[in-house]
Amino acid sequence: MFRAAVVCLALVGLAGCRSAPEPQPLPPYREDVVVLDDSLKRPDVIAVSKPLPGFGRGINLGNCFDAPSEGAWGTRISATHFEMAAAAGLDHVRLPVRFTTAERMLSEPPFTIKEEFFKKVDWAIDQALARNLSIIVTVSNYDAIHQEPAAHKERLYAIWRQVAKRYAGRPEKVAFEILSEPNSKLDPTLLNEITAEAIRIIRKDNPKRIIMADPYYWSASDFLGSLKLPADDPNVVGEFHMYQPALFTHQGADWMDPWYRTVGVVFPGPPSKPIEPDPATLSQPWVIKFFEEYNQKPIEWNPSGPMTVFAHFDNAARWVRQTGKRVYLGEFGAIDFADRRSRENYVWLVRTEAERRGIGWAYWDDGSKFRAMNVKNRTWHEGLRRALLE
Ligand code: GLC
Repeated sequence: MFRAAVVCLALVGLAGCRSAPEPQPLPPYREDVVVLDDSLKRPDVIAVSKPLPGFGRGINLGNCFDAPSEGAWGTRISATHFEMAAAAGLDHVRLPVRFTTAERMLSEPPFTIKEEFFKKVDWAIDQALARNLSIIVTVSNYDAIHQEPAAHKERLYAIWRQVAKRYAGRPEKVAFEILSEPNSKLDPTLLNEITAEAIRIIRKDNPKRIIMADPYYWSASDFLGSLKLPADDPNVVGEFHMYQPALFTHQGADWMDPWYRTVGVVFPGPPSKPIEPDPATLSQPWVIKFFEEYNQKPIEWNPSGPMTVFAHFDNAARWVRQTGKRVYLGEFGAIDFADRRSRENYVWLVRTEAERRGIGWAYWDDGSKFRAMNVKNRTWHEGLRRALLE
């Protein structure tokens, strides 16, 4: 999800931006937040996406290889991640990888990925496969390509040339995702060009492997319509991420713009008592409008409610109908500044709605503010586990 990286870097330095909290007892439920159930679901929705075997229920191993360096965001990948994911009944993990640091690859041609780092990715793949989990290797947090696509696309192609070659012999349970959350100057036209070339490169050694391709604007469902994927290759799958309503899911996130500062936002709205948004929101008309509606509108029409979630699934459904392609939900979740009931409501709603529409998913777990799986003490956030799996 988008971030105010510059502010973050300037204020606290790379490693200080995020850290993993120590295990805390779960807070009590807020009594004024309703428990969502099936009654608000629209009965007319039909399953839209054809099955994606092996990529049904999953979890992201976030803030590990996608951090600027290992441990910089407080989380280190461990065998426990894989053990816990498999034991909970998930069938896959999604592994976001920031290849593009000086320690990991050359920043000039031939853009060689260092063997030492590649071995870590090998290890993660081995860990997943040993537990019968599928795994999606995702090029993530490649910030520069979104700012200067022309200057960076060759480097992305070089990543895929090397990754595709190295893992060509791996089973079908290993999938590739070309680029997570394209944004800024990597507009839909350029993105289609880059995606097509990356697919061509991967297909040289990997004729059948699942390839996930993300639309513009941080993998928003709204931009699936502008994503052009080959019609004759069923194993190229569209991916989207779901953090809407973002003022609920990212309330208080320190990597976001200042207008995300208002905390105490519930899901579903309206709140039992209207809330006063943080003054930082006043510069943003859309944020002012969100809070006005949030404070007043009934659950059915509240912007912090099921209507918003359904609208994004409808975008995905439309794209599937138009293209006949499969779609996958690679990230969703809500930060722990939100109250416990609201988080569980949100995660349950997104997960069950995805499953009702035949869409495989991976929860965004970052070992930190979005954490569901606590690898330090080997316990799940019980409410989130239930929301995801029961
Ligand atoms: C994206 C970013 C990740 C962030 C998450 C939630 O996945 O890559 O760093 O934590 O969105 O905002």
